[in-house]
Amino acid sequence: MRIDVLTLFPELIDAFAGTSIIGRACAAELVRIVATDIRDFARDNHRSVDDKPFGGGPGMVMSCGPVFDAVEHVTALDDAKPSLIMLTPQGQTLTQSLANELSGCDRLVLLCGHYEGFDDRIREGLSPREVSVGDYVLTGGEVAAMVLMDAVVRLVPGVLGSDQSTTEESFSDGLLEYPQYTRPREFRGMTVPDVLLNGDHAAILRWRQEQSVERTKTRRPDLLRD
Ligand code: ADE
Repeated sequence: MRIDVLTLFPELIDAFAGTSIIGRACAAELVRIVATDIRDFARDNHRSVDDKPFGGGPGMVMSCGPVFDAVEHVTALDDAKPSLIMLTPQGQTLTQSLANELSGCDRLVLLCGHYEGFDDRIREGLSPREVSVGDYVLTGGEVAAMVLMDAVVRLVPGVLGSDQSTTEESFSDGLLEYPQYTRPREFRGMTVPDVLLNGDHAAILRWRQEQSVERTKTRRPDLLRD
């Protein structure tokens, strides 16, 4: 999978792409993450990428010219046709199911905005898929792009050690994950449930299933409604 990130802060994306599990996935060439500075496509000597909003109002708006040029430039860097994703609080909320779907793509281009948002003709002319990471406003799309990449790249086959790690976790079956324990058996008077210690795998499976349902009911009842 190749992911191009169009951003005003490529150094943030480069640090992310070189660190921890994502860093290893890139080193193993399971995924390629390429950050491109939108400012390189500015059309003036000041390297401007934004301007005042028509009609007045606070803040600055990302301009069409540099964004269109940057998208067209990175699209042409590879034969595979990319899915273009704009990170914006106005988008479809990122879920595990969307992460799953995106993990099957050969190529993504992520467009990160800053300031008060994008000139709306970027939506009109480039028809990106718009994705939000939640109902709150960040200072820019970079952190949102990293959240999306993290959720997607870990699902790419080979990135995590064992397949089980993604099949038994929260949301993989629409439920939250059951409680987990490791050694010691007792810590500050708190013990590990007996069922996990007696080697009865059918009983363990049953207990975990019940715990998943219980946790989901109390913490995220919205996940059970459909
Ligand atoms: N940019 C600013 N806030 C955002 C959010 N919640 N999701 C995606 N992109 C954003």
